[in-house]
Amino acid sequence: MNRVHIKTYGCQMNERDSEAVAAMLRGRGYSIVSDEADADIVLLNTCSVRELAEQKAMGKAGHLRKRRRKNPDFMIGVMGCMAQNRGVNILDRLPDLDLLVGTQKFHAVPDHLDHLIATRQGQGPRPATIIDLDAEEGSQNTIRAHSEERKISAFVSIMQGCNMKCSYCIVPKTRGEERARPMDDIVAEIEELARNGTKEVTLLGQIVNQYAVREFPFANGKSPFVQLLERVNAIDGIERIRFTSPHPVGFREDLIECYGRLEKLCEYIHFPMQSGSDRILKQMRRPYTVERFKRIVAALRARCPDLCISTDVIVGFPGETEEDFELTRQAFADIRFDMAYIFKYSVRPGTTAEPLGDPISDELKMQRNQLLLDQLEEYSLAHNKTLLGTVQEVLIESPARKGEGMFVGRNRGYRKIVLPASERLVGELVQVKITEASSTTLIGELVLEGVEVGV
Ligand code: SAH
Ligand code: SF4
Ligand code: F3S
Repeated sequence: MNRVHIKTYGCQMNERDSEAVAAMLRGRGYSIVSDEADADIVLLNTCSVRELAEQKAMGKAGHLRKRRRKNPDFMIGVMGCMAQNRGVNILDRLPDLDLLVGTQKFHAVPDHLDHLIATRQGQGPRPATIIDLDAEEGSQNTIRAHSEERKISAFVSIMQGCNMKCSYCIVPKTRGEERARPMDDIVAEIEELARNGTKEVTLLGQIVNQYAVREFPFANGKSPFVQLLERVNAIDGIERIRFTSPHPVGFREDLIECYGRLEKLCEYIHFPMQSGSDRILKQMRRPYTVERFKRIVAALRARCPDLCISTDVIVGFPGETEEDFELTRQAFADIRFDMAYIFKYSVRPGTTAEPLGDPISDELKMQRNQLLLDQLEEYSLAHNKTLLGTVQEVLIESPARKGEGMFVGRNRGYRKIVLPASERLVGELVQVKITEASSTTLIGELVLEGVEVGV
């Protein structure tokens, strides 16, 4: 009765929360199964950032109930952002859920499952849904367990919550106030990962560069985030550092000058812009102008000419005119992002943008989405072509999905590279010469001490 499958929706933070829940459950003797069909318990770790994400999880839970009707011992839990956002209202549509757990209570999941199982084994009456949605002081410190399996690249949550008030965004409601983890704990966690063979870490927070600004003092003009980067940079065994997502607010010189100085900090940044129109940024309550955003990018590039940059953009925010959208296209052309996640605006109940409605048709959003994708394809192809013939440092992560003997890894700029290699090299940093480049894929071959070797 103790085989658990966790299905994760949403962002990297959710992935990390799911991993931590899985590790805590393993520590209690549960087994985590990758195939839902083998599970006695299915936990959905949900996302509310767009309506579609909520619909998917609701649909999935509805579907799982059929299985529950056939087997009353089968259990379903809903965790994470949608649980927090919708609360007990979820039970109107899914009345027989076993577990509803909010974003500050992931660590309580093992206790709740133990209890549910005990009642199924005849120890006490079966409870109605266990509901655990409260805020909890210090809950940011509970997301720290990792599985014992070696993870080549690992996520590390350095903070929870968000104090910004972007008008479209549900995250401050689902994740609560900004709360930082103590720096020593984060460093200890990463040291432990390094001992276990992890080579790359990605530090996670809704605004990572604002990490601990209230809890931790600045030192010599260096923000707590920069101090953390320095400490992670000094950890033996860690070869690469990434982070997501930084925000233009509080993005200062101390962070810019880390590029090129901290040798493990990769030449890649995911830097959400959201819109290229100042008017729309204002409506979104994003407290910067496009000019300021571009100035930060220019300063980063001056410091680090090879920097790869990706971004997030929302198309079809209420009131986005052709002119506003053209400004976003213009910003794309000026900055030439290497990659972007483009989202169609989705009204989130309870946000300050909700009263503006959703006046832009889905068709127009699709069109705008496609125009930006076309632009990106051009920049991505041009960028990838510049890599042809170069030798890139690649961290080999796993066998490729297609092609026998093919493996996949990333360069420091976060580009995916496919190459023939061997299982022995998984988790290793290797030198790879790029032989083929399209807008989506780079193919290369191993280089050994200056000699190319066919594998
Ligand atoms: N904290 C991060 C973003 C987290 S949410 C930041 O501020 O950069 C991830 C992305 O989802 C956002 O960057 C935004 O582009 C998108 N998003 C958030 N709310 C949205 C909504 N209501 N509709 C469409 N996209 C949205
Ligand atoms: Fe949402 Fe804005 Fe906070 Fe990012 S910074 S999580 S977009 S409110
Ligand atoms: Fe992430 Fe979605 Fe929550 S984007 S923080 S899982 S609402």
